[in-house]
Amino acid sequence: MTWSPTHGDQFEPVPYRPARMPADETLANAAALRRRMDERRSVRSFSPDPVPEQAVLDAIAVASTAPSGAHQQPWTFVLVSDPAVRKQIRTAAEAEETVSYDGRLGEEWLTALRPLGTDAIKTHLTDAPFLIVVFQQRFYLEEDGTTRKHYYVDESVGIAVGMLLTALHVAGLSALTHTPSPMRFLGEVLGRPRNEKAFAVIPVGYPADDCMVPNLRRKSLDQVLVRV
Ligand SMILES: Cc1cc2nc3c(=O)[nH]c(=O)nc-3n(C[C@H](O)[C@H](O)[C@H](O)COP(=O)(O)O)c2cc1C
Repeated sequence: MTWSPTHGDQFEPVPYRPARMPADETLANAAALRRRMDERRSVRSFSPDPVPEQAVLDAIAVASTAPSGAHQQPWTFVLVSDPAVRKQIRTAAEAEETVSYDGRLGEEWLTALRPLGTDAIKTHLTDAPFLIVVFQQRFYLEEDGTTRKHYYVDESVGIAVGMLLTALHVAGLSALTHTPSPMRFLGEVLGRPRNEKAFAVIPVGYPADDCMVPNLRRKSLDQVLVRV
């Protein structure tokens, strides 16, 4: 039977009564999460040390609780641990990135990337013990080939990946959002169906002992907030 996101085609409300948290607890939780998330950094230099797989599975499950257009959950998370497949992904990614850094990106983009210190060599793809390759389901594809439209796919998958990165960080793991454009090779290497389009590769693990990150500043709350 085809999986359905609801228990039928009709609106069927069920009660939702989460316990109301005292305001001081809300404030303490919000402030603690703000401090914790401000410590998150994209890591490009990983230790090969293993990480608890269940923590990664839990983070993916968190991501899949994300809101999505018409509750269609238009995402697939491919968890890659096989070293041979990670190597295959790195080889293909570095081939694309070499063309990109050799000029395909254009001078304006390369200038924007310069403070990050990135180049076409992508050691994180083989050093991190896990890669989570996120795919957008551009449309729903039944086994018999019939299709159904998906709504707000970019927005939905972006929110889910944000929740994934948050969950990984809170669990004590590090990650990178990597978009080795164009990413068509990912669907080919991983044998994904024609309705899926790669969104990002997310290496997950612990930072290498000598890990360095670019010295970035974040916008202050005042710079991103408009009150009306
Ligand atoms: C959509 C998106 C695509 C990104 N693509 C890459 C990438 O291909 N390679 C890379 O090294 N970092 C990539 N990043 C990471 C950003 O460079 C990084 O988030 C930014 O510099 C801020 O650093 P922080 O994550 O440590 O706060 C990407 C981030 C996002 C959100």
